[in-house]
Amino acid sequence: MITIEKLQKSFGKLEVLKGISLEFQRPGITAILGPNGSGKTTLIKSILGMALPDKGRICFQGEDIKGGWAYRRQIDYLPQIARFPENLAVKELLRMIQDLRGGQPDAERLIRLFALEGYLDKRLGTLSGGTRQKVNLVLSLMYDSPLLILDEPTSGLDPLAMLHLKELLRQEKERGKYILITTHIMSFVEEVADEVVFLLEGHIHFQGSLRELKEKYAASSLERAIASILQEGKLAFSSNGHGEKAAKLVLGG
Ligand SMILES: Nc1ncnc2c1ncn2[C@@H]1O[C@H](COP(=O)(O)OP(=O)(O)OP(=O)(O)O)[C@@H](O)[C@H]1O
Ligand SMILES: [Mg+2]
Repeated sequence: MITIEKLQKSFGKLEVLKGISLEFQRPGITAILGPNGSGKTTLIKSILGMALPDKGRICFQGEDIKGGWAYRRQIDYLPQIARFPENLAVKELLRMIQDLRGGQPDAERLIRLFALEGYLDKRLGTLSGGTRQKVNLVLSLMYDSPLLILDEPTSGLDPLAMLHLKELLRQEKERGKYILITTHIMSFVEEVADEVVFLLEGHIHFQGSLRELKEKYAASSLERAIASILQEGKLAFSSNGHGEKAAKLVLGG
């Protein structure tokens, strides 16, 4: 479905993606992981054509996405930070998006699932963070596109909403969808992801199944495997004279 070849993207002097090659050719759930600022959102925005690569190529179903917009109709997207007018009521926002996109969305099922019935007349500006995220999830899941890209879908969700989200993703996967997610909740990844891509310092440090990741780092949990990746990164950078930068990275700075 997606092929990424030697993708490079900088913002000014900051090289965020330093030649990334990746393929998503099998349906299922892929988790794109990496520390804050490692380029996950930049990679996602590049796939969506919202960030323009400096070099490299992205193909969607065999066609270069450069200059083409039609392919986006086949993608449902949850942005990491969604901005909508604060004075819109939830039902007005839903109607607005439906008017813009057309098609046959199924919002009702999701509204019921996330227990949003009582919020439809409330203005977005008055909602709690988690409730807002549930509304964003309804907006991105109410269509039925073959590719689903969710940037931090778990952000702010309570445990019950998290359970519903996991169940939904499993169902969508069963229906043969391609699903890309980023999240910092490792238990979520362990429960739903088939494959993991780990971004670090502009490169892909690991791509494979959760089992392969744990085996490679002889780790009992995903968290421990990731700690090993970061440790490995730290050693690599300190031998390059970039120890300080790597230390910041390990400490999450
Ligand atoms: N439009 C932009 N202009 C300048 N710098 C940017 C822009 N977008 C992203 N960056 C920088 O690129 C780097 C990667 O950002 P990105 O949002 O892709 O990280 P991320 O892996 O998604 O992080 P997080 O886990 O915090 O969501 C960061 O240092 C960020 O500050
Ligand atoms: Mg991000």
